[in-house]
Amino acid sequence: MSLQLRIYVPEHPLIKHWLAVARDVNTPSVLFKSAISELGRWLTYEAIRTWLPTTETSVQTPLTTCDATFVNPEIPMGVVPILRAGLALLDGAQSILPLASIYHLGLSRDESTLEASCYLNNLPERFPPQTKILILEPMLATGGSIMMAMQEITSRGVDPAEIRIVSVVAAPPALRKLSEAYTDLEIYSAIIDEGLNSKGYIVPGLGDAGDRAFGT
Ligand code: URA
Repeated sequence: MSLQLRIYVPEHPLIKHWLAVARDVNTPSVLFKSAISELGRWLTYEAIRTWLPTTETSVQTPLTTCDATFVNPEIPMGVVPILRAGLALLDGAQSILPLASIYHLGLSRDESTLEASCYLNNLPERFPPQTKILILEPMLATGGSIMMAMQEITSRGVDPAEIRIVSVVAAPPALRKLSEAYTDLEIYSAIIDEGLNSKGYIVPGLGDAGDRAFGT
């Protein structure tokens, strides 16, 4: 699969561990949700390494002054969890991005047509200039939901090059669609799986992430 966008699968034992816990059909809902939250933490940590804006200054230590780098509070940062399943990634992501604004986006997919539709949109009419957005979507499957989310966010003024996506399992159909439309995009995922079954589920995948996280 030749892609224009950049997809990173960080080599980290904790990411592998929590993915294995999430994949296991015998993992109970409460543990599944905390596994996804942990993946949200570690994948966000990786995703923001070259994305988080910083500012250079100096600080006075008890002994002398020295150069210092702080997170730049003037650049607006937003996190967009795609409901429902993206909520499970949010706790972990928010633990390391406490200053980011959270904009909820509720998308559901029709199980027969696999088309996405929007039932909740908390995005502002226009994002402030220079806004950076991290999208949380655990399952990049057919690409319907993530393409709709990208459209909603970029049409409100966010440069696609300022957007990063954190997912848990990514599949080729979604990656192909994203790559054709957004060449500057970066995605951080725990794994890239083989493909989809006839019902649009990722195989081997981890099942319905929303149902498993919320015990429905
Ligand atoms: N959404 C899920 O929750 N799981 C899949 O496998 C595909 C889409």
